[in-house]
Amino acid sequence: MSEMTSLCASKEVAEGRSRGYKLTRESTDLSLLLVRKGGQIYAYRNRCPHISIPLEWVEHEFLTHDGSLIQCANHGALFVIETGQCVSGPCPGQSLERLPVIESGGMIYLQS
Ligand code: FES
Repeated sequence: MSEMTSLCASKEVAEGRSRGYKLTRESTDLSLLLVRKGGQIYAYRNRCPHISIPLEWVEHEFLTHDGSLIQCANHGALFVIETGQCVSGPCPGQSLERLPVIESGGMIYLQS
């Protein structure tokens, strides 16, 4: 049976914005990012496929200036928001790890 972990209120992730979260699950730390685009929430593990380190240098800032792509601050990899696929930078063809999330009753939940 799937478990749901509440992450935050829906309104905390505005359209075209991102947020980072850290939580502990089954005694391991999980760092993830949420992005809202077209009203939809996308969640990925906060780990760049290039050398497996966190993507951001500034808290909650995971997007390019125009908000169109997810960006790794380390070496500039760019990822499609809807798929997590790298389209530019040192890891083309690799992807961020998608995490299953749902929105219900004004809250965002991580499923497991
Ligand atoms: S660690 Fe992300 S591009 Fe190098």
